[in-house]
Amino acid sequence: MALFNSSTRKVPDTGAIPKHIAIIMDGNGRWAKRRLMPRIEGHRRGVEAVRAAIRDCAEKGVEYLTLFAFSSENWRRPEEEVSLLMQLFVMALEREVVKLHENEIRFRVIGDLSRFEPRLQQLIRDGERLTANNTRLTLTIAANYGGRWDIMQAANRLLAERPDCAQGFKEEDLAPYLSMAYAPEPDLFIRTGGEQRISNFLLWQLAYSELYFTETLWPDFNTQALEAAIASYQNRERRFGRTSEQLKEHA
Ligand code: IPE
Ligand code: IPE
Ligand code: MG
Repeated sequence: MALFNSSTRKVPDTGAIPKHIAIIMDGNGRWAKRRLMPRIEGHRRGVEAVRAAIRDCAEKGVEYLTLFAFSSENWRRPEEEVSLLMQLFVMALEREVVKLHENEIRFRVIGDLSRFEPRLQQLIRDGERLTANNTRLTLTIAANYGGRWDIMQAANRLLAERPDCAQGFKEEDLAPYLSMAYAPEPDLFIRTGGEQRISNFLLWQLAYSELYFTETLWPDFNTQALEAAIASYQNRERRFGRTSEQLKEHA
């Protein structure tokens, strides 16, 4: 069951490569602005950085990579930017899904897909189906995703399917209904672009993740930047409520 995958039950070895990395890819607009380019050019370069991050994570043996591509609040952006972002998403799927499959990468999307155009929804479903049995790396794209939406949809589905839970339920009851029930919780969370907030990304799942913030703008996030984030993670001590001495006793 998902919760028992939870990294908070036993203390993992932070000296190792994180199993699951979750990233808020921020700073595309500022990257473009600094170069006097339109914001969409920053998003285009952002797609290049995504490609590199997937390759690097696969090579390093990271098992789950989760990328925040579009939040449930991003619909508030100017219509033109939203529409160009959707086009970019469609183009990236058309071009990249086959390559993901060739590289044994499982592709998943989390978020409320109902608001996307039928064509985009279809590409997502086809990509998920094609890559479903791949085991090298699971790439999850969070699109029209919000952490509160996730918890609410999980609670609603749980109550619809398990009327016995109406009197009260436990974490273990809810966990299988969360949209990332197939993955362990992120070990390492990265946000690029200098902002230090969660912006309604994975709220439940980040409970005990190590947080890493960098000024680097997403289009500039390269192998070195990823290695710096992993090195920072490897220097942390994950206690999950215990004391430092307890950890040493069990080491
Ligand atoms: C992140 O970059 C990408 C999306 C939210 C789609 P931004 O577009 O937020 O870039 P900044 O924060 O304006 O620089
Ligand atoms: C968060 O980025 C969402 C994504 C990266 C997709 P934003 O740039 O939209 O976040 P806020 O609104 O500034 O917090
Ligand atoms: Mg931003």
